[in-house]
Amino acid sequence: MSDSAREDHRAFLNRYYGVSRRIYDLTRRYFLLGREAAIAHLVEEQWETLIEVGPGTGRNLRKLKNKRPNASYGGVEASDAMLEHAKIKVPFARMVHGFAETADMTSILGKAPDRILFAYCLSMVQEPLAALEHCRRQLAPGGEVVVVDFGDLSGWPSIPREYFRSFLDTFHVRPLPSSELESLAFWHTHGRGQYWSMFRFSPLEP
Ligand SMILES: C[S@@+](CC[C@H](N)C(=O)[O-])C[C@H]1O[C@@H](n2cnc3c(N)ncnc32)[C@H](O)[C@@H]1O
Repeated sequence: MSDSAREDHRAFLNRYYGVSRRIYDLTRRYFLLGREAAIAHLVEEQWETLIEVGPGTGRNLRKLKNKRPNASYGGVEASDAMLEHAKIKVPFARMVHGFAETADMTSILGKAPDRILFAYCLSMVQEPLAALEHCRRQLAPGGEVVVVDFGDLSGWPSIPREYFRSFLDTFHVRPLPSSELESLAFWHTHGRGQYWSMFRFSPLEP
């Protein structure tokens, strides 16, 4: 991926979220499903450091901090507009600008993170499989990448599925290739109709 393609993505995100960031949480709560399941899973486990990639307004980090106040939190965000907003909303987290495919996850909290969370971010990333591999290589031993996002909608009738897919495409969102991710994950589950999917991935050799 060229630097200019990445900068185009950044410019798109800044235009998009520059306008919508203030109403983002209110408008997304009814259709970014599965995030509560991912948070419930995370708080059941033992970890000390977590980085969210594409934290947006920091909504998930705030929820996690409420339940696990002693953990250390970080975020990597490609949109300058969202990053500026999130820095105010999650002052407890170390937030940096970066891209999922290239960010140095080990420098954010001073060590390799125990958990890396992608919540409705991987479907916006230009090279999702490369980003996933990049993050798995930077996990602490015994760590996990947790992904929750739009599924492949395979339980939907074809006309509404294609309509919804083209609606998402206008916002540069491409539902995840579920079967490919299933083959890489050590655990997965899906919401009704495969509207949403959640995957857990183990570390790869750095
Ligand atoms: C749909 S929002 C989800 C926000 C948040 N995770 C949530 O659950 O509300 C996707 C976020 O990912 C960010 N994003 C998109 N592409 C990215 C990339 N390549 N690297 C890092 N962040 C990215 C966007 O700027 C946005 O903040």
